[in-house]
Amino acid sequence: MIKKYVYGTPFETEAVMMEIENAEGTPEYGKVCCEQKFCFEYEMSNKDMIFGLGQSNRGINKRGYIYISNCTDDPEHTEHKTSLYGAHNFIVISGEKNFGLFVDYPSTVCFDIGYTHSDKLKIECEYCDVTLYVIEGENAYDIVKQFRKLIGQSYIPPKFAFGYAQSRWGYKTKQDYREVAREYRKNHIPIDMIYMDIDYMQDFKDFTLNEQNFDDFEEFVKEMKQNNLRLIPIIDAGVKIEKGYSVYEEGVKNNYFCKKEDGSDFVAAVWPDDTHFPDVLNKEARKWFGSKYKILTDKGIEGFWNDMNEPAIFYTPEGIERIKKSMKEFIEKNPSKDDVWFMRDSLLYLANNPQDYCAFYHNVNGQKIRHDKVHNLYGYNMTRAAAEGLQEIDNNRRYLLFSRSSYIGMHRYGGIWTGDNMSWWSHILLNIKMMPSLNMCGFLYIGADIGGFGADTTRELLLRWLAFGIFTPLMRNHSANGTRRQECYQFEKIEAFQHVIKIRYRLIPYIYSEYMKAALQYDMYFKPLLFVYQNDEIAREIEDQLLIGNEIMIAPVYTQNAKGRCVYLPEEMMMLKFLSNGTIHTEQYEKGYHYIAIELDEVVLFVKKGCCIPIAEPAEYVEQIDTKNMKLYGYINSEYLLYDDDGITKQYQQQNYKTMKYE
Ligand code: GLC
Repeated sequence: MIKKYVYGTPFETEAVMMEIENAEGTPEYGKVCCEQKFCFEYEMSNKDMIFGLGQSNRGINKRGYIYISNCTDDPEHTEHKTSLYGAHNFIVISGEKNFGLFVDYPSTVCFDIGYTHSDKLKIECEYCDVTLYVIEGENAYDIVKQFRKLIGQSYIPPKFAFGYAQSRWGYKTKQDYREVAREYRKNHIPIDMIYMDIDYMQDFKDFTLNEQNFDDFEEFVKEMKQNNLRLIPIIDAGVKIEKGYSVYEEGVKNNYFCKKEDGSDFVAAVWPDDTHFPDVLNKEARKWFGSKYKILTDKGIEGFWNDMNEPAIFYTPEGIERIKKSMKEFIEKNPSKDDVWFMRDSLLYLANNPQDYCAFYHNVNGQKIRHDKVHNLYGYNMTRAAAEGLQEIDNNRRYLLFSRSSYIGMHRYGGIWTGDNMSWWSHILLNIKMMPSLNMCGFLYIGADIGGFGADTTRELLLRWLAFGIFTPLMRNHSANGTRRQECYQFEKIEAFQHVIKIRYRLIPYIYSEYMKAALQYDMYFKPLLFVYQNDEIAREIEDQLLIGNEIMIAPVYTQNAKGRCVYLPEEMMMLKFLSNGTIHTEQYEKGYHYIAIELDEVVLFVKKGCCIPIAEPAEYVEQIDTKNMKLYGYINSEYLLYDDDGITKQYQQQNYKTMKYE
């Protein structure tokens, strides 16, 4: 049961798809106050666990900390950070009472979940213009499914997007891409995509190609395709200010960029230096920006990643002026240590400065809206622009699309990657924990930068991360310019990488099938154990094991030098261990704790009691997977309901399901 409470005059975010009448009175749970601010307070019982908040820090159970929905470009995801790139304001309170809350509010929302007072849940928004959805259900899982129906069907990518991808910020020339292609193919490490980071553009201008390096791009795309590889270019939010550059000229002429108070176009520096931000909250501007993706699809491109769309600001001319002023004062006086700290911080806070987010405006149906009041909708609408533009090209075709910044609602238009993580062991664990929370909020096509984006990776870290990454729908190895190279072929004993990634391809029929079921049935692909084993006191607290689809459980290794790990089985299960010689060892384990040895080049999964899963022969790209000759693994006399389709069109019919019997 879903109830909708409207306070003040909320901005229409279009997060929700269902028509629901406004409820009378006040919510049954907690206390709402709506004076200047919006505030929701709830006394948590000892038993209550809090789930949700999508892309946020810390655990699956969010209790005990504070989280702030405020889309932020911050590459240091250390434990104390309260805001990451997304704003996903859905939580479930599960314990004595079970209910969900969706705070549909496009600006900053603060979730204090037992941080200030250990038993108090407090949600606050600066203004009392909020739509609050209260969802009642039997348990957390049931509430999530209702919520997912409320916000509409999740994005479905083409099937090739389930392949493995290599990316790196720093590839510049065709030779760089050819080398990646050659090394992967030569070493028989399966791969389907190579990502193109900002250097493919001419001076970081969206929808352009570096003239020197990519003169005949269409041919190059073809050449890669002949090698069964797709190139996936990045698109950034900021449009470079440059006379004669058509995207800039058109944007200025038609007032498609965000404006300052005085009506001039707002200027912010990002990768291309000074840029303007397309006003993607303005329908016409959104349509215009979305139509530009065709420039690249016309050259054979089938997917994109949208970046810097919080929108990230390195600095603004106003910010520089502010700094100059304080610098002048600093130089003119005899600075104390406090002045030195102040100066240092002022330079740091030039980027993504709240003052700058208050200095530009959107034109929403003729109304001038200050950016900070709708800040969390920018990445969402940039990706919506792209999705709608791509739909215009061919409505029956799927394109690969994902974004860095997002808000609930964007899950219908694309996936997300979790932004600039680090080559840290703790970030494998963060990756594991974030996945089910994102699924709760509708985001299914998700994954992190495998191996870590910032800092130098190690062979061991990358292998362990890949062994988890083979279960994330988006499986991409990406790293930052200047860090240690992290393509699989850069390391010794390449066979280990080949072996681990081949397992992904053997599992793609299952992964795809479970992804599609989750998308079509408003379900979760990644589930915390307690969503299924609700009465198991131990399973309730396990955050480093996940259920994938309906049949399997995984328990990834995420510590250095480990030779295995302790795994909790909430019931009897069949372990499948993919050995380095390509065979699969199966062994049944009883409910309870077990130490499972897992070598660096091995992958382990557990099939639930009474279930089986299909496993294909290894393939080197998605189209090569032979789904006709798959073998079932798990429990004899069980069945698996396989979903499969052409992977390209949007024909998701009933006949795409087929029952497979393990006899
Ligand atoms: C941002 C992105 C990262 C990308 C870089 C350069 O930091 O998050 O993935 O490589 O910009 O475009």
